[in-house]
Amino acid sequence: MNSARGYEQQGNNGGATHCSLLDSRNIPEHVAIIMDGNGRWAEKRNLARIEGHREGLNAAKEVVQTALEVGIHYLTLYVFSVDNWKRPYYEIKALMEMFEDFLSKNEEELVEKGIKLVTIGRRTDLPKGLQKQLLSTCKKTESNFKLVLTLALSYGSRLDILDAVKEIVKKALLGQVKISDINEELFKSHLSTSFCPDPDLLIRTSGEMRLSNFLLWESSYTEFYFTNTYWPDFRRQEFLEALGTFAKRQRRFGQVAVKN
Ligand code: IPE
Ligand code: IPE
Ligand code: MG
Repeated sequence: MNSARGYEQQGNNGGATHCSLLDSRNIPEHVAIIMDGNGRWAEKRNLARIEGHREGLNAAKEVVQTALEVGIHYLTLYVFSVDNWKRPYYEIKALMEMFEDFLSKNEEELVEKGIKLVTIGRRTDLPKGLQKQLLSTCKKTESNFKLVLTLALSYGSRLDILDAVKEIVKKALLGQVKISDINEELFKSHLSTSFCPDPDLLIRTSGEMRLSNFLLWESSYTEFYFTNTYWPDFRRQEFLEALGTFAKRQRRFGQVAVKN
């Protein structure tokens, strides 16, 4: 018996356009997204880059809502990388203020919808106001469990891996960990992403086909979905299309395909 959930697919106009059946067995447990192309979206419209970031937050909201509806349990969004600090000061400042404002406006909704907010990355790098807001929202949503929404903020995967290495070496020097105990499981448990499974699906928008220092260890067997769409235009419908594509992929994890 097919356990497919009939799922009304809505267009950007909010109306039901056509019905797509997303089989609940093929819904990824964890989706990670590199939300790229905000600047180019704005430039194409002769707008300031920051307007692209503003619209990007609306896209993020729509994608989170869709993730919740289809039953994804973990959604990880690459919001700001450690390397993004190299951008012009005014862009960074505007971005940080926008993140803080967006979180404060949406905090209650996160609480009500059962979304748990967590972050990965160097939170202490962030402006004090944003840190305070994150502390508040994470605390208020900590007992939620419908969807774990992870924001990668001042995140870099190489740094995360190095931090794990340092922690393990420290424990080894103190005699708390034996060299022979160091395996993939132990290593993973020292990464900032230890609380969630590895991503099943990783989406990158804007046509770039690279990881840009995102989830390098975790994405060893992740399925990739690249699209030319700039992030502000990546809405519910295309997210559902990405999920539909994922559902058709055959994952083998190094094994031989199982024949029906
Ligand atoms: C992604 O969009 C958002 C952040 C990295 C903060 P970009 O700002 O990188 O947009 P493009 O790639 O310049 O178009
Ligand atoms: C990756 O995008 C980081 C985020 C989306 C937050 P970038 O725009 O910073 O990546 P590159 O510079 O194109 O590799
Ligand atoms: Mg970019």
